[in-house]
Amino acid sequence: MNTLPADSRHKITLELNGDRRTGYAEPRMLLSDFLRHELGATGTHVGCEHGVCGACTVQLDGLPARSCLTLALQVDGCKINTVEGLSESDGRLNILQQCFRKHHALQCGFCTAGILMSLDSYLATYPNPTEADIHELLSGHLCRCTGYAPIIAAACEAAQLMQAASSEPPITQDQK
Ligand code: FES
Ligand code: FES
Repeated sequence: MNTLPADSRHKITLELNGDRRTGYAEPRMLLSDFLRHELGATGTHVGCEHGVCGACTVQLDGLPARSCLTLALQVDGCKINTVEGLSESDGRLNILQQCFRKHHALQCGFCTAGILMSLDSYLATYPNPTEADIHELLSGHLCRCTGYAPIIAAACEAAQLMQAASSEPPITQDQK
């Protein structure tokens, strides 16, 4: 419940998954709470709320960020991507999501959104990771479900498929 007078809240305008969105935040409001409670983007989950578990990871101007360590006021004018924006524009799961489904890497789902946002950002920058690279990346995500094996398998296959897709020649008009 908001206990501060309405005029103590600040207007925040940002780009969320490509859409311009506006909401209001008290000065101490966390980005995770702003996304979930003010903008209704509940795909971002909150675990530890102090920067350890990685569940709340979103992309802030393209880079992974802990939304529980970021104030809503800090993202005014920024681009935020959350798991709701990962799928293709026609609604199909993207390659990384498809690989998560194939390898049963979703697990209980609590950490999944944060892991996907980290991996999506990482693979965009480092398209040819080793399994050790994926291990290191996942060290920033604490998950109680399993030993991470399905997530690693999904990430490695996604990297291969994304590389193959990016090296395919573009479809010409005649092939459509
Ligand atoms: S909820 Fe943000 S790192 Fe755990
Ligand atoms: S996905 Fe279940 S605890 Fe991480």
